[in-house]
Amino acid sequence: MNKHWWQEVVVYQIYPRSFNDSNGDGIGDLRGIIEKLDYLKLLGIGAIWLSPVYKSPNDDNGYDISDYENIMEEFGTMEDMEFLLAEANKREIKIVMDLVVNHTSDEHPWFIEGKDDPNSPYRDYYIWANPKPDGSAPNELTSAFSGSAWEFDATTNQYYLHQFSKKQPDLNWENEEVRKSIYSMMNFWIDKGIGGFRMDVIDLIGKRPLEGILGNGPQLHEYLQEMNRETFGQHDLLTVGETWGATPAIAKLYSNPERKELSMVFQFEHIGLDQQEGKEKWDLKPLSIKDLKTALVKWQIELGNEGWNSLFWNNHDLPRIVSRWGNDTDYHYESATLLAILLHMMKGTPYIYQGEEIGMTNTPIQSIDEAQDIETLNMYQERIGAGYQVSEVLESINAKGRDNARRPMAWSAQKHGGFTTGEPWLALNPNYSTINVEAALENPQSIFYTYQQLIQLRKDHPIIIWGSFELIPTVEHIFAYYRRYEGKTWLIVTNFSDEEQVFHCQDKVQKIIIQNTTSTIADLQDVTLTPWQAFVVEVEEQ
Ligand code: NOJ
Repeated sequence: MNKHWWQEVVVYQIYPRSFNDSNGDGIGDLRGIIEKLDYLKLLGIGAIWLSPVYKSPNDDNGYDISDYENIMEEFGTMEDMEFLLAEANKREIKIVMDLVVNHTSDEHPWFIEGKDDPNSPYRDYYIWANPKPDGSAPNELTSAFSGSAWEFDATTNQYYLHQFSKKQPDLNWENEEVRKSIYSMMNFWIDKGIGGFRMDVIDLIGKRPLEGILGNGPQLHEYLQEMNRETFGQHDLLTVGETWGATPAIAKLYSNPERKELSMVFQFEHIGLDQQEGKEKWDLKPLSIKDLKTALVKWQIELGNEGWNSLFWNNHDLPRIVSRWGNDTDYHYESATLLAILLHMMKGTPYIYQGEEIGMTNTPIQSIDEAQDIETLNMYQERIGAGYQVSEVLESINAKGRDNARRPMAWSAQKHGGFTTGEPWLALNPNYSTINVEAALENPQSIFYTYQQLIQLRKDHPIIIWGSFELIPTVEHIFAYYRRYEGKTWLIVTNFSDEEQVFHCQDKVQKIIIQNTTSTIADLQDVTLTPWQAFVVEVEEQ
């Protein structure tokens, strides 16, 4: 496998609406991001994945795009975007754009033009189908945001497909003009000097809805190979596909370099581990550490040289990891740093979601009036309608709702966490008075400095990027593994629990690389690990 820059960097995801507001309207913006580039440089990241900044009516906070070649007004202008690219490049930070091309907004001119006119060339840009003889939807497909995936249009007496909200009609990738228009838009952005694309629900573009096929459709990989040829193939860009249903075998189809598709995919096997089998993410069950090890190790081992892993705990759709699988009360620092060390020492490209580096937590709500996200609001209506208790639905929302990740970033202990001088579009977590960037930077023992150190280690030690991976069999709550490269061995040991655990091995410690306690870690024969203790040591294997 040839080496690429995107294997060596750590990527930082920005959700622009919630990152930093430069003009006091309560909404984060591009100038706000520029103000914080020095902070990101200090952290050490090499690329930013920017959630959508394109023109959008914001039914799904920018994942419903009405103009791919213009910037959302609240976020700024194209000049601001160009300025952001220039300022980021100056700091050797690449900007990876979010590519949302499974669907557009219903306010995109393509949809508007085709909606009322079945003879418009744009009609076939989307997926229209006749009702069943009784007038009902063409089939039973459901939207990820609750209810049917089909919306009736009375003017033309047909239904259109929307796998997300009804304001996000699905594009028809079987139409060559659609594909060409998208490639030309991608080249527009490539020409501006971006570092790559994160591809929203890309596994859905090969859909055949009338045959009941949504993910992994028959022509999916053909389209991606065509996209590669027509757009980023000649440039060394980071391309990462969001692929909820990927197994390692499927991931190799996307990321085996010989197939000329994508750099890597986000796979979600570990993310589903705390939901009941065959049910929805809202149907909670406790995480088993055994299952977590099985899932993560499988991906470490199975991709081999036919693919590359992305490593992540968080994004704008997921709850905050320290609240989800760490302990955000008694062991906030310890569990947040353990999660960081465990993930960043694995093989693959790590992604940090804004605020993760200071241990931002979930924000429980008492009433649905405090929720903002369309997915949460729709699910609430649906479940209350189906007879669920309010308390039960709120419990699911507090555990899994997307607003948890979308609360504005806490920069300081000032009003609204220094995020805005106005009224924030979504309230901050009240703990901003203690969990904020300023406090983290002032405290040499903060979570921030563990992330900073992990990123620096990756720059200094190729073993982290290229080393082989081997799990060490231990008791359930210890997650330990080796990385080996060019005669060196690193041992990573983590206690994934609130209790002490005992770890044994015969290896001799050469030196401590990083840890989240101040232990001496000299002898590994019988180590009592404190709750959430994590360390990495270079060892001589016995
Ligand atoms: C996945 C995105 O991450 C999510 O935020 C969005 O709602 C859906 N795709 C639809 O674009």
